[in-house]
Amino acid sequence: MTHALKHVLPATWCDAQGISIGGVPLSQLADRFGTPLYIIDERHVESRLRGFREAFGPEAGLVYAGKAFLCGALVQLLDREGWLIDAVSAGELELAHRAGLDASRIVMHGNAKTDEELAQAVRLGVGRVVVDHLQEIDLLVEQNRRFGRADRPMRVLLRLNIDLAPETHAKVTTVGPTAHFGMEPETASEAARRVSAAEGLTLGGVHIHAGSQIRDLRVFRRAGEALVEFVAPLRDRFAETVELDVGGGLAVPYLAEDQAPEAREYAEAIVEGLGEARASERLGAYRILVEPGRSVIANGGVTLYRVQARKTLPGLGQVLAVDGGLSDNPRPSLYDARYEILNGSRAHAKHDTPFRVVGRHCESGDVIAPSVLLPAETDRGDLIVLPVTGAYVYAMSSRYNGVGRAPVVFVRDGAPRLVVRGETHDDLLACDVELS
Ligand SMILES: Cc1ncc(COP(=O)(O)O)c(C=O)c1O
Repeated sequence: MTHALKHVLPATWCDAQGISIGGVPLSQLADRFGTPLYIIDERHVESRLRGFREAFGPEAGLVYAGKAFLCGALVQLLDREGWLIDAVSAGELELAHRAGLDASRIVMHGNAKTDEELAQAVRLGVGRVVVDHLQEIDLLVEQNRRFGRADRPMRVLLRLNIDLAPETHAKVTTVGPTAHFGMEPETASEAARRVSAAEGLTLGGVHIHAGSQIRDLRVFRRAGEALVEFVAPLRDRFAETVELDVGGGLAVPYLAEDQAPEAREYAEAIVEGLGEARASERLGAYRILVEPGRSVIANGGVTLYRVQARKTLPGLGQVLAVDGGLSDNPRPSLYDARYEILNGSRAHAKHDTPFRVVGRHCESGDVIAPSVLLPAETDRGDLIVLPVTGAYVYAMSSRYNGVGRAPVVFVRDGAPRLVVRGETHDDLLACDVELS
């Protein structure tokens, strides 16, 4: 039953106890931690991290995009594996810092960084700030003057917006005429001039992030080329070793029929792009940085729900309503994201009957899957398994309808570990000053 989905799931098998992930039966996890529940197979994530290292080699800077999913336990895993972290807010910065990551291994992103965020980044001593726009340079100089270390210039990368024509969802396309991130080459050249002349800053490199869920490797090849073309005429303004940060964006498989490139192919595409642009000859010393998020964590995660209602509606057919939805996973509503679904309580039964699986929230858009095949007997109390929910799911969750965020459990070699507890009513009400 899980065979067709093997490539979208982490280490999963199906025996008399039903479906197990990372060696732990899902029914056991549901009984112990309740539903909805986010489950992440730590070994899977670890092997993805190592796969990227193998593909890119020891010199490359591997930067995990924290926006995909971040918690203390993951920061510690990334730290052990020698990764850096891309933080995009004071909150992510604080999380990485409190989890023990040396701030020099944090790359600070953001297209609307506040003075407070820049001050915090400087105070903690982040390794790199990726500057998104011209105004940010003066703001950074100011915060660096107040809180920076005189003996250590702040390393700056410039975020470029060059149309690499990625074919992906418009909402996650981050270059081109409709994207509001970064600077087009002319403005970025001016930024290079200003940063290289600025007090307390070093122009460390350039960055481009074309978008997310990109299958076409030519986009990454073009990214490599574009960075070299930009840097080459300005080479003497940059640090001795210039960093070429090609962002993230590698696609993952969500559905049984989906294919996605391997980390090795991704690395090869980037290296080819750099070779095509004669990077070594024109730039001298350089270093590749990549910032994958989704492709590290997405397939390592599944969400577990329990069916709360089954009904038949004339216009919709058989409908199953589960105990989560829009609040724990807004992706179907935001991007029309599609998912496979398994019945975790009847894993051995034939999945051959169409159902509409909906969430618990007060919107007709709260549809987890408009039509999926599940066992005909699926009913109230059954466990529903939603694969590929490691990335941009917990991270995008909300408390809509007064539903607290679900807990996150890591599984590893047959043992579960609660890494983020679920939100209680007290958590939900803690900021309401009339109630506390
Ligand atoms: C600047 C930047 N880097 C990296 C990423 C990670 O992208 P992905 O999760 O698709 O790998 C993002 C995602 O939006 C991003 O904005």
